[in-house]
Amino acid sequence: MVYENLMLEVKDSVATIKITRPKALNALDTATLDELLEVEKEVDDNDTIRVVIVTGEGKAFVSGGDIREMLALDAVSGVDFSNKGHVALSSLENMKKPVIAAVNGYALGGGLEIALACDIIYASEKAVLGLPEVTLGVVPGFGGTQRLARLIGPARAKELILTGARISAREAYDLGIVNKVVPDDELMNEVYALASKIARVAPLAVQLAKDCINVSTNVDIESGLRHEAHAFAILCGTEDKNEGMGAFLEKRPAVFRGR
Ligand code: CAA
Repeated sequence: MVYENLMLEVKDSVATIKITRPKALNALDTATLDELLEVEKEVDDNDTIRVVIVTGEGKAFVSGGDIREMLALDAVSGVDFSNKGHVALSSLENMKKPVIAAVNGYALGGGLEIALACDIIYASEKAVLGLPEVTLGVVPGFGGTQRLARLIGPARAKELILTGARISAREAYDLGIVNKVVPDDELMNEVYALASKIARVAPLAVQLAKDCINVSTNVDIESGLRHEAHAFAILCGTEDKNEGMGAFLEKRPAVFRGR
């Protein structure tokens, strides 16, 4: 599949999705959101891929929803635009494979909302993050009010969203938004090192662990524990579980096949 506003590169078992719309600092217009949904499906359906990285070209990760396109929205088309963002970002959040955001620069509005839909966020020390939508007369429309409040609590989310503040990667780390801040020229190496570590362990176990943790944010503890027990049981029926435990007892490295 050929994309206009993003690039897909697959190296070993790691896929990198790079948003490439430099004229708008990688802003998300309808066409880019459609492509994002397509590439998520392509990557999730490819069994050779174990880990996904999302990043941006140039000085921006993603500068937000496309302000030129949003200027023309009315109440009817506004709900469609917001829903389109929700579909693309929920699909990203619910990909079977783990997704790492490599935040290389500006991650504002819809850009931070993409990162919040990823499983782990590494950021360049140069990155600037924020949800500045109120400075434009709207609210975050691609899941920011919901995901940020769940991640850092409503009070800290409100302080950021109600002021539209732009914060540094270090401040985002202190708030618990970003997992790790790294020097700009080491960002992709660090992210690949993390991706390779995840790619080496049992892929079905990684997928179900992600699913259990995602479920945990939406259900009571008893339901979450039942979900976990079912995931554990499913994994007990896999070849990889026999390989992982057998290899441990035989004192040799395990070779996982995702079966
Ligand atoms: N949408 C459309 N175009 C954008 C854009 C965006 N979000 N962000 C930047 N651009 C365009 C600029 O209009 C400019 O285009 P021209 O060269 O044609 O004028 C080009 O990208 C370069 O931008 P700047 O000249 O502004 O670059 P800069 O380095 O001086 O500043 C920046 C960079 C701080 C990121 C600044 O561009 C900026 O503040 N962008 C807007 C950020 C923002 O408010 N994002 C939230 C959008 S609302 C949203 O996302 C709603 C939602 O939840 C879906």
